[in-house]
Amino acid sequence: MLSNSEWQLIEGATAWPLKTFVQNQSRAFYVYDLSDARDRARAFKKSGARVHFAVKANSHARLLTMLKAEGLGADVVSLGELVKALACGFAPEDVIFSGVGKGREELSFALQKRIFQINVESFEELQLLSRLAAEKGVVADAAVRINVHVAAPTHKNIQTATEESKFGLDIRQLPDVLTWLKAQSSVRLKGLAVHVGSQIMDVGVFQEVSRKMGDLYREVTAAGFPLERLDLGGGLGIDYHKSGDNDLARLPEYFKANLENHGTNAQILLEPGRFIVARMGVLIAQVVHVKRGVNLQFAILNAGMNALMRPALYQAYHRIEPLTLRPGPRQVYNVVGPLCESTDTFGGRELPELRPEDWVAIFDAGAYGAVMANTYNEMQIPAQWSLLDGRLEVL
Ligand SMILES: Cc1ncc(COP(=O)(O)O)c(C=O)c1O
Repeated sequence: MLSNSEWQLIEGATAWPLKTFVQNQSRAFYVYDLSDARDRARAFKKSGARVHFAVKANSHARLLTMLKAEGLGADVVSLGELVKALACGFAPEDVIFSGVGKGREELSFALQKRIFQINVESFEELQLLSRLAAEKGVVADAAVRINVHVAAPTHKNIQTATEESKFGLDIRQLPDVLTWLKAQSSVRLKGLAVHVGSQIMDVGVFQEVSRKMGDLYREVTAAGFPLERLDLGGGLGIDYHKSGDNDLARLPEYFKANLENHGTNAQILLEPGRFIVARMGVLIAQVVHVKRGVNLQFAILNAGMNALMRPALYQAYHRIEPLTLRPGPRQVYNVVGPLCESTDTFGGRELPELRPEDWVAIFDAGAYGAVMANTYNEMQIPAQWSLLDGRLEVL
């Protein structure tokens, strides 16, 4: 089922008729309805938490500028994302710097800018941060991201807190880190952070994690660290098999799970990515060939894992609909990309008849889509068009 706004996008009942627009396009492209992300940002702000958008999900400049204007902060994981967030209007005090591989250059820049919080993910990183801060004569505001050993119910490739995960400081190492921190004057431990995975549909997981983090927060505070913040990360998923009409109705339960169980007086930080931007994005691709196979027919598109990696990376499902709805029985197509990889497939779909040069919409592609686009097979990166308040722009 398509939502009303999805139909409007396709049928042109909005200010912007997609069907007419595609006639002038020669390659696949993304379209973002930024008003959808804006509604979600506003709903998140109502939680009372400090909300930092996870820029890794989508770093489109017009999106970032809009989210800043809505009062969100940014959560970045690389120097590139940090520089881009600042260029899009976020102030240093709006930014959390996460990520497992922050080195000398990244940390030095963050210290020089005096950003809000650096989330360190290992003892080694904390020691480097402390050295760099001492060299600069500043005090780093840090949080430690803890691996709390929760196997979130999601695809294994997007779990981030299993025992052997590379992310976060193993919870068993925390006592040693605290002992070491006691003797340091260049790092101020402001908080604890956690993020157990992405595309999590069961809000009970957030309840469990916030309870665990609340316990830990109290222990660390009792050990003499005047913490102020609990960063509960991102991770809230969407149902890729259905339209987003009911998404916002899920937020109160999610906020309750995150905000009511920690039992501390900490300032709560959230880092949503996917939930804010997945629904706003559609990848529009064109059918190159309809190819007969032995038992299957293929619809070969002009965009595949170069434009949208999620299906190849973790067998992700995206709803697909053609822009031209031909009458007659639906047929099963194996919808695939053009690249020289067997994993370059969106999977089997029952669709109205497709013909070469038809355009199709691949829905819910606003998160972890364009940010992962690549030039494999010397393909071009898809353009990103965005719509907001009746204005269509490309960057
Ligand atoms: C530390 C951190 N915070 C936030 C996010 C955003 O997650 P999501 O897009 O699932 O909300 C991620 C993504 O994996 C992350 O690693």
